[in-house]
Amino acid sequence: MNNSLDSSADERIGITDGLKDGLKDGLNRPIHDLRVSVTDRCNFRCVYCMPKEKFGKGYQFLSKSELLSFEEIVRIVRAFSELGVRKIRLTGGEPLVRSELEKLVEQIANIQKIDDISLTTNAVLLTEKRARSLRDAGLGRVNISLDALDDETFMAVNDVGVPVQKVLDGISTAAESGFESVKVNMVVKRGLNEHSILPMADYFHGTGQILRFIEFMDVGNTNSWKNSEVVTAAEIADLINSERPIEKVPPNYRGEVANRWRYLDGGGEIGIIASVSEPFCGDCSRARLSAVGKLYTCLFAADGHDLMGLIRRGASDAELSEKLTALWRSRRDRYSETRTVESVLRPKVEMSHIGG
Ligand code: GTP
Ligand code: 5AD
Ligand code: SF4
Ligand code: SF4
Repeated sequence: MNNSLDSSADERIGITDGLKDGLKDGLNRPIHDLRVSVTDRCNFRCVYCMPKEKFGKGYQFLSKSELLSFEEIVRIVRAFSELGVRKIRLTGGEPLVRSELEKLVEQIANIQKIDDISLTTNAVLLTEKRARSLRDAGLGRVNISLDALDDETFMAVNDVGVPVQKVLDGISTAAESGFESVKVNMVVKRGLNEHSILPMADYFHGTGQILRFIEFMDVGNTNSWKNSEVVTAAEIADLINSERPIEKVPPNYRGEVANRWRYLDGGGEIGIIASVSEPFCGDCSRARLSAVGKLYTCLFAADGHDLMGLIRRGASDAELSEKLTALWRSRRDRYSETRTVESVLRPKVEMSHIGG
């Protein structure tokens, strides 16, 4: 991977000089990140994401032929890379249930302009062998979801009886496998796991693994979100500060999703993702590709744009590039900044389709 400009590739996919200056959306935001969901399946049934009432035994998951192939994903990623995308995050459902994921990582790592490949996972399937092969294929960073440290709470969240130790093992495996960073994501939902904030903070203090607290969001229409169930970033920061003093740290880059904080005692850093109480749409440079090849320009969009159909109808690289350019130029999404009681109830894509 490197960042050198490949003008022949620009010509091949029809990029004009104007675009090289930077593709911007309708609110003047560039495109920088693409989150790619590789499956809608998951081995968990987290109550805030894939509640069993909807994702139970009778639920019809996608078949293999309905998913984008690795070749199709790579083609779309390459087209995006020519328009400005530099970061790729692989998501699901649970991305590790997709077999041979390392082959996809390797092919994405071979795309010249992509300089960051990361994975969001629950880590249950992250064996030492899998972690090593993913890292060798070019995976740089891993974010692991864990919402509590006691089995009773964690099992109430994942709803499939997976104990905490399974995920802690996955976190250790990731930490020992030489990734650039391992972060831990904890969704905080009032009445479910807010009592786990301090134990989680204590556990990861001083480990080098950055724990990020995530405000419970109204993604999709099945998690019965209520504003009263959001534990706000301010509440979380106050609670942690009362135990161990923390101070704000400037963002690593413009548009970083998590607000950064550091322990004054040198115990490292934590993050808080305040999508509800402090929305960050103004700098949102993320697009999302679902497992069926639909492009979503917002996590809370009702529907996506069908890229699989376009590709399978035989679109040329230039046509694909034109489509992506037109979609990004017309984008005006800023859902979290305009959330209302009514918008929460509007049809929205499910988390398991676009991976957060
Ligand atoms: P880093 O590159 O490590 O900062 O990754 P990330 O935090 O963007 O990715 P991750 O998959 O770990 O997401 C953490 C949380 O942030 C999840 O709950 C996501 O749904 C949420 N998130 C990520 N991007 C956005 C976004 O654009 N809008 C909103 N509302 N939430 C987002
Ligand atoms: N609100 C906030 N975060 C969520 N995640 C899944 N559903 C929600 C929700 N409703 C988190 C997962 C994972 C990341 C991709 O998104 O726990 O860490
Ligand atoms: Fe699976 Fe992650 Fe959703 Fe939990 S939050 S059900 S681990 S995709
Ligand atoms: Fe981006 Fe939509 Fe999230 Fe706002 S709500 S930050 S526009 S994905």
